[in-house]
Amino acid sequence: MFFSMSAESEVIFSRRKGPPLSLAELRAEFPILAMRTPAGPLVYLDNAATAQKPKAVLDRLQRYYTEENANIHRGVHHLSQVATEAYESARKSIAAFMGAANPAEVIFTRGATEGVNLVAAGLRESLLKPGDEILVTGMEHHANIVPWQLAAGRTGAVVKAAPVNDDGSLDADAMIAMMSPKTKVVGVVWVSNALGTINPVARVIAAARAVGATVLVDACQSITHFDLDVSKLGADYVVFSGHKLFGPTGIGVLWGRADRLSELPPYQGGGDMIQRVSFSGTTYRGIPERFEAGTPDISGAIGLAAAVDWLRQFDRRELEAHENALLRRAEELADAVPGLRRLSRAPERCGVLSFVLDGAHPHDIGTYLDASGIAVRTGHHCCMPLMERFGIPGTTRASFAFYNTMAEVEALGR
Ligand code: ALA
Repeated sequence: MFFSMSAESEVIFSRRKGPPLSLAELRAEFPILAMRTPAGPLVYLDNAATAQKPKAVLDRLQRYYTEENANIHRGVHHLSQVATEAYESARKSIAAFMGAANPAEVIFTRGATEGVNLVAAGLRESLLKPGDEILVTGMEHHANIVPWQLAAGRTGAVVKAAPVNDDGSLDADAMIAMMSPKTKVVGVVWVSNALGTINPVARVIAAARAVGATVLVDACQSITHFDLDVSKLGADYVVFSGHKLFGPTGIGVLWGRADRLSELPPYQGGGDMIQRVSFSGTTYRGIPERFEAGTPDISGAIGLAAAVDWLRQFDRRELEAHENALLRRAEELADAVPGLRRLSRAPERCGVLSFVLDGAHPHDIGTYLDASGIAVRTGHHCCMPLMERFGIPGTTRASFAFYNTMAEVEALGR
């Protein structure tokens, strides 16, 4: 069955202000979606790797560089004050978007990877001792494994991984059973980038807190599909990347509880993070500046705020319902293909169809789809331990955003 264009236009998203938008109108906000590849119209199903940007973000970047560009926190001149105000307002918008009452708890980073590295490097100094345990899930992205291995290597702590079930769900019972007073850090991905599995983070966080562990949540793939409210989550740290959230590349967020962030030593030294520098001793500023040495990605932060402000006009549950409909149809089509195995049949999934096909290497499938203008990602998805768990070199992954259409899903299934 093919979804006709008229059916696509019947998908309607309400807005808090202004008239509702049809799916076609919403797609028109993303100029790149209208582009043609050498093989035909672009069918962009690689949203988990990076999402496309609405005009609101592109226009905001243009305006920043055209009318506001100056360095921040450093100038008495007008333009510097305008840029500083825009950067700090961006922090407030993003704090509001993620339920953080205190904008100073929002640290701008290069991305989620830098956020985890910052926390791991800090806890290496302030917390970890020989014999301590760092517990992560077996479906973490390398960015939530390797920084902990580096910290473990320098402190004598050990990294342990909780098992993943055959259906691609987390064995949360086993993970909780692995926790003890030796567990000092728990790292958990909310939604797996390689599987689309949604993990029971509330349960994992509660158990981790009961043993006194510090908890870091990787929200990269969850925040693109559903809301994050750090005031209710109970985690100590949360990271995500801007480019997956319809914002620019090179910007991300580390949120941490103010008291926890204040326990961490500075991550990088340089301008803007100091109170006073002297060869007899240097003192540091509090949060957030303490962790933002040097000129930050000013336009990136402003562009990311434009992305979340744009998103906030919608009821995200409507966007998510459309994404779920796309995923269910993609799974139906996949299940009809002989020899195809979906990697996740976990009870809760979103955004991702990850599969292997008998006799076909994922890269060949990706190349074949590319010849029809369909962009998917193939390979290990920076989750080598997970691939090892399933005994495969990699998968083909189609990942969906709210601007995708049923016709695009059908094109994937052809
Ligand atoms: N971590 C990103 C992905 O899953 C790049 O594709």
